[in-house]
Amino acid sequence: MPNNAPIGVFDSGVGGLSVLGEIRQLLPAESLLYVADSGHVPYGEKTPEFIRERSQVIASFLLGQGAKALVLACNTATAAAVADLRERHPELPIIGMEPAVKPAAAATRSGVVGVLATTGTLKSAKFAALLDRFASDVRVITQPCPGLVERIEAGELDGASTRALLQGFVAPLLAEGCDTLILGCTHYPFLKPLLRELVPAAVNLVDTGAAVARHLQRVLSARDLLANGAAAEPRFWSSGSQANLAAVLPVLWGPAKSVEPLPC
Ligand code: SIN
Repeated sequence: MPNNAPIGVFDSGVGGLSVLGEIRQLLPAESLLYVADSGHVPYGEKTPEFIRERSQVIASFLLGQGAKALVLACNTATAAAVADLRERHPELPIIGMEPAVKPAAAATRSGVVGVLATTGTLKSAKFAALLDRFASDVRVITQPCPGLVERIEAGELDGASTRALLQGFVAPLLAEGCDTLILGCTHYPFLKPLLRELVPAAVNLVDTGAAVARHLQRVLSARDLLANGAAAEPRFWSSGSQANLAAVLPVLWGPAKSVEPLPC
């Protein structure tokens, strides 16, 4: 596998751009491919079988584009599909997301941690295993956030309806004494500025985008797969409206040449 082959990154929609940004910052020499499965967003309320099927299709597409590694920049897809993808592609580096339970348990002073995530992530066996492993000494309160991903997909990061929705999700967690909030969906880091207005300054906001980029760097380095040339222009595909993705890219990513239709 050539070192300068691209890294394939995918998400149900635009949320994975929060992870893509961390990868770009840490690994500027890497060429990046990004698929937004916007024709099927949100994944949060879909069945694990459906998400596994979409993940297989998108992984095959990215491998067809020459990807040397895959990043599932989506907590819900990771919970449903990462084990299956690793079984199908045992040689391929495949990196997934997981809610930051371990760092949150270490950071809390009140002993109460809130988790904002999709229903799919919160109901998954992977999340239950994470709690068993790292959260035995803290109280964890989970909060599914239906409707939030859709607001971010629409680029509405600070409007009145997004603010009201988010306020309704975080208020009960704060009332229970949470001093640490896990952003357990890759869409939510885009709401950090709004969250900062809604929660006291002492509340920790924890997400895993930067840690995932560092993990990717370690995995590529261990396999001698780090890029050693100049990065190619990133490429973006959407299975939904290309115009929608093109409209939010300048806000969530920066200038992008074009959005291509995902042929699957
Ligand atoms: C969703 O599509 O519902 C959100 C994906 C995620 O969990 O990151």
